[in-house]
Amino acid sequence: MILQQLNSYFLLFALSILTLATALPSPDPDAEYKISVYIVPGNNTFPEGIARQPNSPYFYVGSVTTGDIYRGSVYEKNLVKYITGSTYGIINAVGMRVDCKDRLYVAGGPGGIVFVFDLHTKQLLHRFSNGLPQNTTLLNDLDIDQAGNIYITDTFQPTLFRIKASDVNRQTVDLPLEKWVDTTEAFGTGGNGIVVTEDQKYLLVAADVNAGEIWRAVISSKKIDKVNFGGAVIGVPDGLLIRKNILYSVNSRHEIGQFIQVIKMDPGNLSGTATRRITSPLFEKPSTIAFDGPDLLVVNFQYGVPLPVPVLPFTVVRVAAGDEAQ
Ligand SMILES: *[C@@H]1O[C@H](CO)[C@@H](O)[C@H](O)[C@H]1NC(C)=O
Ligand SMILES: *[C@@H]1O[C@H](CO)[C@@H](O)[C@H](O)[C@H]1NC(C)=O
Ligand SMILES: *[C@@H]1O[C@H](CO)[C@@H](O)[C@H](O)[C@H]1NC(C)=O
Repeated sequence: MILQQLNSYFLLFALSILTLATALPSPDPDAEYKISVYIVPGNNTFPEGIARQPNSPYFYVGSVTTGDIYRGSVYEKNLVKYITGSTYGIINAVGMRVDCKDRLYVAGGPGGIVFVFDLHTKQLLHRFSNGLPQNTTLLNDLDIDQAGNIYITDTFQPTLFRIKASDVNRQTVDLPLEKWVDTTEAFGTGGNGIVVTEDQKYLLVAADVNAGEIWRAVISSKKIDKVNFGGAVIGVPDGLLIRKNILYSVNSRHEIGQFIQVIKMDPGNLSGTATRRITSPLFEKPSTIAFDGPDLLVVNFQYGVPLPVPVLPFTVVRVAAGDEAQ
């Protein structure tokens, strides 16, 4: 008994040293209970977006074929249907994020609408619509800054859209989606993954679906420039995530390999160095990622697979992000 107690004190002591010695993120105490392959129900789901809800075990993925949204717990193997897309007019669920108030934002693809749900009540809070004819727009992905403003990409329009934080708090459900900046003179169309840098100064935008580029938008001035990777092949970026100065970019050109490109961004975020690629035999044409502590949750979209024959079941898989931020 005493020996056991001593042992556990020693373990605690050793663990605290370990914690001090390692850089962020700290070791995940629940790691051993977490699952590495999650099952998304349905044979025609084609899950594209993924969002992790902070301070909860939950994450969400959305179907581009039905607009349905599924919820998973990091401790449970099977996701369950959480929101039926057709109930709210969600044609496609694409990129998604959860804010610090447990509100889920879903980019609605060709419908031109961003949907906002309260995850406590499952209530639809807002539909922000850009008013464009269906299929002339493709709201693809979004990210949220610390002030609560949301920035949204459009693959078909040369536009970045924005939702102001104050509009999310309004009572009105249906509101216009504001055009924030015209990107014609920058990357044009093809906007895809997007992240706000941790210093809140910039957006990094995956752009031009064929050329494989990332562009930096200065939030204060709306100035947009192409990020320089010194000629390194980074693949064609789809989903993006950033932590400190490390950018994770999911390659969507699967013919050249299934990988997440890790890029160390330089100060100023206008250049970076491709440092390594994360791969896994469990990748099945992934689209995007979410952080879960030291790991990445990777959603296996299987886009481009002829619709009748995806590899079933659809999955979300866990890989280590690695820990090189500085
Ligand atoms: C889905 O696919 C699995 C595996 O191929 C099959 O066993 C199952 O019957 C299919 N379900 C439906 C509803 O088609
Ligand atoms: C948009 O495109 C989809 C897929 O091609 C098609 O099924 C749908 O009818 C189109 N909608 C409109 C309003 O054109
Ligand atoms: C560039 O991005 C990194 C990572 O987000 C950040 O630490 C840094 O402060 C940014 N801005 C500048 C001006 O370097």
